[in-house]
Parts: sequence; structure tokens; C-alpha cells
Amino acid sequence: MLLNRRIIVGICGGIASYKAIDLVSKLQQAGALVDVIMTEHAEEFVRPLTFATMSHRRVYSDLWEASGEAAETHIKLAEEAELLVIVPATANTIAKLAHGMTDNMLTAVALATRAPLLLAPAMYTNMYTHPATQANLATLRERGAFVVEPEVGRLASGAIGVGRFPETATLLGAIHQVLGRHGDLAGRRVIVTAGGTQEPIDPVRYVGNRSSGKMGYNLAVEARDRGAHVILVSGPVALPPPFGVEMHLVETAMQMRDAVSDFITDADALIMSAAVADFRPTRVAEQKIKKLRTEATGQHREDEFSIDLVANPDILGELALALKGGHAGEQHTGISIPQLKRRLIRVGFAAETEHLVEHAQAKLQRKQLDLLVANDVSRTDSGFGTDTNKVLIFHADGAMEDLPVMPKTGVAAAIWDRVVPLLG
Ligand code: PMT
Repeated sequence: MLLNRRIIVGICGGIASYKAIDLVSKLQQAGALVDVIMTEHAEEFVRPLTFATMSHRRVYSDLWEASGEAAETHIKLAEEAELLVIVPATANTIAKLAHGMTDNMLTAVALATRAPLLLAPAMYTNMYTHPATQANLATLRERGAFVVEPEVGRLASGAIGVGRFPETATLLGAIHQVLGRHGDLAGRRVIVTAGGTQEPIDPVRYVGNRSSGKMGYNLAVEARDRGAHVILVSGPVALPPPFGVEMHLVETAMQMRDAVSDFITDADALIMSAAVADFRPTRVAEQKIKKLRTEATGQHREDEFSIDLVANPDILGELALALKGGHAGEQHTGISIPQLKRRLIRVGFAAETEHLVEHAQAKLQRKQLDLLVANDVSRTDSGFGTDTNKVLIFHADGAMEDLPVMPKTGVAAAIWDRVVPLLG
């Protein structure tokens, strides 16, 4: 997505300017053509040579250079840019931008370009929360600027507060989202479920599975980068929440069903990549279950221990029933669908260890899906926890596609490629 995209990275004079080196490096590695413009104050913190080395291009800063070339250069840069990112955006530059001032190369380009503006403010808490800075940011937002909120944490002063420069991954997420905002999912609301559910046995144990959430998080990020409003319903995973995605954290299958049910009415698509536990313990012990011991000796007994399980709701199955029954669906299933505002495209996954095709076809039918993505989770390059996946995609009309092993990013893209035409 970033290959050959023309991105200007403006660097202001804040201590966080050194952290922007990593962003420039990552953008360059992703194939973007990165032109760095530094303010005169930024050069007090980091030398232009550092950014030139990382971007593999010359760095711009002086609007008043004796050759007069800069006058032409700033217009050329402004016209060619697809995105202007200002990191860190200082209170001073934010104020200048809000008031249309152009006293250096960066502010001149900002006024001259029609490319979208993405700001990552970072500064001392009191400067950030000052009404002047907030008013200036509000003005810029009204004019269409995108603002990545600073994080709360330890600041250069040693104080803890809001104003910390975001992580590179967050900024890359924001850049992808802005560049992809007019993509083929623009204006769509989509729900993705990810991770595995955990069904409590007692306060310290649960019935769970090995889902890492990677497949689902990649699906969410891909949809975000194509312009969708993404609702990510996630079981407990070790992944950071992706930038620009509406997160809903759940633990159990029942909670996942409730979350899906809450958002379903105005969604365009639901992709259930979560590994939902089919059963949960019938009773959850209030206290930690202790080892069984014989009364006489107090020794640990080797007796068997069993847990009674009860079936969890089949979320996709209930949804199929509810959609068939329209309003009546609510009475028969736990999924509440007052009225769907649009046709909902439903995509399920099948995690199988044998008879992949037969099981997948049966699930597609039983759950009345538009698409079913089947993965053989006994392979080492596919399924739980891996960075790659090998999937078969089954279509409602009976067609089947056998995709090669791909990174989960690629599988996510392939799935959305097939959902988009179904959205109509
Ligand atoms: O998270 P990763 O580590 O990246 O691993 C990805 C994955 C292996 C979890 C993923 O690719 C996958 O296969 N997800 C589906 C796992 C699963 O629960 O499959 P299933 O065959 O048991 O369920 C079939 C479909 O019904 C799934 O879409 C599931 O979300 C849904 N389901 C299942 C049970 C249930 N009670 N309600 C459901 O809606």
C-alpha cells in the first residue's frame, strides 16, 4: 500500500523528533517516497543527515536559501504529496497551521498542499491541554486534519501525563488509514471477531484454545486500510489493539455473542475468525478447585476429575436462524436483530484437523454463510499462532478456491477481495 506513495514527513522542534527517525525508516522500507522537511528548531535536536540517511533522499528545511530554488521546491513538494505527516507536531507549529502562517518550509508546504494532513502532537501536558492548543487542534480538525492523540506516559520532563509521542506502529496505522480512506470498503461497517474465547472453570482456570488472534487482527487492519469502520470483537490475546479500530474485548462465547448481537443491525459484513469454545463448564466454582486428598493420609489421590460441560450458543448458527425468522428470530435464539439496516454478508472460518472439505462444506450449509474459509490447523504453516495460513475458500454457490500458503496479511486481503463484490 505504501509502495511509491509520496509522503512528506514534517519534523518540528520537540524532543520526540528523534523518535520520528524510526517512522521515516519504516516508511522508506515499505517503499514510500519520503521527503523530510525539518523546521529550524527540529535541526537543534536531530541533524538533517540522519533523516537523509533514513529516507534515502535529501532533506528540506531552508525556505530562504540563497539560490532561490526553495521557492519552487516547496510548491513542487506540495503538489506531489499524497500525505503530509507532521511528527512531532509542536504547539508552535500547530498554532501556525491553525492560523495559516508560513514562516518556514514546513508551514509553507502545509498551506500550499491539498494532500491530507496528519498530525501527531507531542509536548508537555500543560502545553497540550492548554485551551489555545486545543482550540488550534479543533480548528485543524474542522478543516479535515487527522490527529493522532498523544499517549499518556512518562514525558521528557520526567512527569507522567498526556503528551507522549505515539509508538511507530500507531503512526503507521494512522498513515495506512488515511491513505486508504477512499478504498473499496469506504463507508462500510464491518465486524470481525478474533482470538479464542475462555470459558471459566474457577477463578484461575478456563477452557480455551490456541488462537493468537493474528488472523482476525489482520482482517481488521486490512478492512481499516480499505476505508471501513471496523468493530473488532476480540477474545483475550497478546496483540496490541490496532489503531483506528473500534475494540470490544470479551472473554466468553456468551459475551462474544452479545457483542456481535449489539453491533449487527447496521453492519455490512461479519467475519467470524474467532475460535469460539463450543462448550463451557456447567458450573463455575467460586473458589479455586483444590487437589483431591485422601482423608486418612492427606496424600494427593490419583482419582479422575471431571468437569461437566454445556453447549455454548453457535453464534453464526443462531444468526442464520434469526435472519430466516426475521423479527421472530429473537424469540428462538439469543441473537437480537430488531431490524437489519442492510444485507449482512457473513463469513465463517472452519478450523479442521481432518476431512477439511467435507466439514467445511457442511458448515457453510448449516450456518448459511456467504463464504467459508477453511484452514487445516494440523499443518505447521497454517492455523493457530502461525504468521502464515493455507486456506480453502468456499462460496455459497458451491465454488471452491484453493489458495497457496500466504502471510495472514495476504489471506486477509484475499478474503476482503471476495467480500467486496458481495456487498454490491
Ligand atoms: O488466531 P490465530 O492464531 O491467527 O488462528 C486463526 C484461527 C485458526 C483461529 C482461524 O483461522 C480459524 O480457523 N478460526 C475459526 C476457529 C473455529 O472456531 O472454527 P470452528 O470450525 O469451530 O467454527 C466454525 C465457525 O463458526 C467459525 O467461524 C466460528 O467463529 C463460528 N462459531 C463457532 C462456535 C460457536 N459456538 N459459534 C460460532 O459462531
